[in-house]
Amino acid sequence: MAGRLNGKVAIVTGAASGIGRASAELFAAEGAKVMCADINGALVEEVAAGINAKSAGAALPLTVDVGQPAGIERMVADTVKAFGKLNVLYANAGIGDAATAESLTIEGWNRMIAINLTSVWLSCKYALPHMIAAGGGSIVNQSSLAGLIGVPSLPHYAAAKAGVIGLTRQIAVEYGPKGIRANAICPGTIYTPLVATVWERRGVGYGASPGASLAEQKKQAGMGNPIQRMGEVEDCANLALFLASDESGWITGTAMPLDGGRSAG
Ligand SMILES: NC(=O)c1ccc[n+]([C@@H]2O[C@H](COP(=O)([O-])OP(=O)(O)OC[C@H]3O[C@@H](n4cnc5c(N)ncnc54)[C@H](O)[C@@H]3O)[C@@H](O)[C@H]2O)c1
Repeated sequence: MAGRLNGKVAIVTGAASGIGRASAELFAAEGAKVMCADINGALVEEVAAGINAKSAGAALPLTVDVGQPAGIERMVADTVKAFGKLNVLYANAGIGDAATAESLTIEGWNRMIAINLTSVWLSCKYALPHMIAAGGGSIVNQSSLAGLIGVPSLPHYAAAKAGVIGLTRQIAVEYGPKGIRANAICPGTIYTPLVATVWERRGVGYGASPGASLAEQKKQAGMGNPIQRMGEVEDCANLALFLASDESGWITGTAMPLDGGRSAG
């Protein structure tokens, strides 16, 4: 089935890498015009060029730091200016880190909350009026399994991701009557640069043995899930596509685990 986002305009933040990149590519392949937004300007230009090589005019790159409120306002304004409207927001950009509640510093806490939570609210804030003007829209906010269950070494990350779930439910309830749906995705571990950073800072992967090779650690981490593998970026892009599309028209206010069954146990 192709064309599941035909005629839609979408913003994907964190589109230069990992889940955001896979999602921007999939959204465009399904017919959307996509603003590919990321702090990594060189990489996001490559991603947009790759999309346009397959489907000319489907993507625009935008260098933005979602830790800066003015940047987010500009991101939304530039999207509407370029493509004429806004139907889908995938607020996916984020950072990883590892600390304990004791070792975490106030700077580390504030940075995490700014990039992984405040930026999601601001993206929604600036997107909402345009989505309402377009007659409705779908907001997909990136949470995490760590927003649903306790995961060691992530006090600030878990707090930010749980906050994303609360924010998403609030928007679903308040803006549903205006045609806006809002859902959060809660992925378990998918090996991306973000997860590599967390594992490096912890010294070992989740559920893995210290000293094991990276390949072995990935295998061990996957075996902790009822579906015995780690996630792939495509698993998340597929769910984001479904939530962005009209196929999920009666789904709003959810925090969907995407975790190979991990949170069921
Ligand atoms: N990979 C996982 O296991 C996993 C699990 C749960 C949730 N998530 C969430 O998924 C999202 C995407 O992560 P990923 O795993 O694809 O990581 P990634 O590192 O591959 O991608 C993150 C992207 O966000 C961008 N980014 C970071 N800070 C930014 C900023 N201030 N402004 C704009 N862009 C910024 C990075 O440049 C990068 O392109 C994050 O919100 C992350 O918390 C990931």
